[in-house]
Amino acid sequence: MYVCICHDVKDTQIRTAMLQGVDSVQALQDELLVGTCCGCCVPMVQDLVDEHQAKFAIDIMSA
Ligand code: FES
Repeated sequence: MYVCICHDVKDTQIRTAMLQGVDSVQALQDELLVGTCCGCCVPMVQDLVDEHQAKFAIDIMSA
């Protein structure tokens, strides 16, 4: 699914980047340019970051 139309970035690219440690909106902007044009996708990027961090926290708590 496309998240950022301006820079042709899909959710799978964002999820892959987060698994590689690019796990903040700012870092994703630097890495993928997502959200750096019109900015409409930033809330969706933030949701993906929040989802990733919540899953990471659950993984740590269950380890
Ligand atoms: S849709 Fe991502 S910056 Fe415009």
